[in-house]
Amino acid sequence: MTDATTSNFLTGHPYSQRYYDILEKRHGLPIWQVKAEFLNMVHGHQTTVLVGETGVGKTTQIPQFMAEMGYTVNRKIIACTQPRREAAMSVARRVAEEMDVVLGEEVGYSVRFNECSGPKTCVKFLTDGMLLHEAMTDPLLERYSVVILDEVHERTLATDVLFGLLKEILKQRVDLKLVVMSATLEAEKFQGYFVDASLMKVPGRLYPVEIFYTQEPERDYLEAAIRTVVQVHVCEPMGDVLLFLTGEEEIEDACRKITREVAAMGDKVGPIKVLPLYSTLPPQQQQRIFEAAPPPAREGGPAGRKIIISTNIAEASLTIDGIVYVIDPGFTKQKVYNPCIRVESLLVSPISQASAHQRAGRAGRTQPGKCFRLYTESSFKKDLQEQTYPEIMCSNMARTVLQLKKLGIDDAVHFSFMDPPAPESLMRALELLNYLGAIDDDGNLTPVGNIMSEFPLDPQLAKMLVASPEFRCSNEILSIAAMLSSPNVFLRPREAAKAADKAKACFTHKDGDHLTMLNVYHAWKNHNEDPQWCDEHFLNVRSLKWADRVRTQLVRICTSMNLRLVSTPFEDKDYYTNIRKAITAGYFMQVAHLQRSGQYLTVKDNQVVHLHPSTCLDHTPEWTLYQECVLTTKNYIRTCMDIKGEWLVDVAPHYFDLSNFPAGECKRALERLYAKKEKGLC
Ligand code: CDP
Ligand code: MG
Repeated sequence: MTDATTSNFLTGHPYSQRYYDILEKRHGLPIWQVKAEFLNMVHGHQTTVLVGETGVGKTTQIPQFMAEMGYTVNRKIIACTQPRREAAMSVARRVAEEMDVVLGEEVGYSVRFNECSGPKTCVKFLTDGMLLHEAMTDPLLERYSVVILDEVHERTLATDVLFGLLKEILKQRVDLKLVVMSATLEAEKFQGYFVDASLMKVPGRLYPVEIFYTQEPERDYLEAAIRTVVQVHVCEPMGDVLLFLTGEEEIEDACRKITREVAAMGDKVGPIKVLPLYSTLPPQQQQRIFEAAPPPAREGGPAGRKIIISTNIAEASLTIDGIVYVIDPGFTKQKVYNPCIRVESLLVSPISQASAHQRAGRAGRTQPGKCFRLYTESSFKKDLQEQTYPEIMCSNMARTVLQLKKLGIDDAVHFSFMDPPAPESLMRALELLNYLGAIDDDGNLTPVGNIMSEFPLDPQLAKMLVASPEFRCSNEILSIAAMLSSPNVFLRPREAAKAADKAKACFTHKDGDHLTMLNVYHAWKNHNEDPQWCDEHFLNVRSLKWADRVRTQLVRICTSMNLRLVSTPFEDKDYYTNIRKAITAGYFMQVAHLQRSGQYLTVKDNQVVHLHPSTCLDHTPEWTLYQECVLTTKNYIRTCMDIKGEWLVDVAPHYFDLSNFPAGECKRALERLYAKKEKGLC
């Protein structure tokens, strides 16, 4: 028997001094006040809903409480889901530290394209998407004794689907405990959804936060945000700053500008440490947000300040102590799906009032704070919707429906969704899967669909991969799929835009962006992944490394699914044609046709679209395949490729069935192609 107070109950080793230091801090978290009550509740009910402000200790402490209670015996695992991969990784690291174990051993994480857990792991943080993926091979989630669904207020698509699955699983596994955790107050709704669920609220400790609005609407929120950060630094007393922006480029841009402006002020103002935070930042760099503010430059000089510039992730899923000033421009990137034209895009959109409230709350964690909203008060009241829409209401459901099919849930329409998606979205999803050959006309999963569901990719991308051995180019398609699943590799700093364009031109393939990406990937490999070479060519090293990791994982799945890894010899005249055909096999539903007027119309839906200025296409082909549609001032199609009409009627005659095709130039062109094909056959 080990001494329970001095030996680690997971490893049997004596606790380190650091453990006791952290333990003391942990005891101060509000969640510890209700520990006994919480455990009692879990004991008496299968499902417990726990609500508490960000920072009370839900994510870091609850899995540990459950572990202490013995839920990890018999090699069972406690799972805690996070909607964001970066949160899963960061929290796992913290909990490993708190439990005094090595990350990846007793405490681990599992996120798409990155697994850090092992045979000893008994507390695992994973994205909601990963847990859903695991359910495909372990439908009753039998390796888990406890499932904690965290941050459910974010209402991601995967969390919503997990709700429905777990509701069923709980009926069949009376030994399974479910804990649902949320930062906002839709708690009764969550409680009502599950059978026999208890509800508990943890009182938070939030200091008052004073809210300031702008008098006039800001024309350029990025510029206004930078100005406000600098002003706060110059005029406000000590305390760290948190600025919310929408994405990597914007954040890096703001980091540079703020650093530069403050440096130009010399030692009249305190030193600053500006830290970015977004999903594709490597974990070690993300971890830096927990560092302390810099000390004054000289003794008695003005105090230093930490300035964190973050995406929505800092809104609720990561708690950073010491923030006193929040700057909220009021925007975030949101997924928007239009089922009528099957376009899903990430759009910079206004946040909800609930989000604005959360953001402001970040300023009052350790002392009274201030929140500067870069919009007017009347805009807050009139323009912002009250709650953020659940993702399920505005997503392309194709991947989810494919996953449900794989899980044996045939009737997505009658699945127990907390908020059912629009029937139109489900119909569109079924239709798309049918066109891709993933489900047959009776709605059953086909062998191809079965393989597709193994890939953590959108169905079109998965189909392109599954089809690629047929076109003798799976090696190349793997690289392209990996590049398409990674953040943009091309850097284009404003001050060096010309040089960047010139560098990009070295990789350009005249037939479009997919092949250009392939060239970049090959060139990077040929230069031994040299970071300096990347800098010289304005390529984002991190994106390339990311793509490489993705590729490795995709290769693993291909191998396990017995998909052949083959290439057409580069000297073969069909090298590129084969690749383009394989891409067409996945994306034949995303094609635009050039009209005589010079305009592109999307096939079947007849939407006017324009080639995005970033495209490498050096001509306007009659048929253009595109990866995504972005709506800004115009409808742009981005990541484009020249394809031949013949391929369309070859790979997807069922989709290009002219009997239900809208009349127009596109239909006439297809008629000619069919006629040619007939003749060829005769
Ligand atoms: O989940 P909830 O928002 O309720 O809180 P939490 O994420 O469990 O955070 C509780 C406390 O742990 C925070 O106030 C931080 O002081 C600390 N923490 C940390 O120091 N480093 C992390 N990576 C995460 C949390
Ligand atoms: Mg949390």
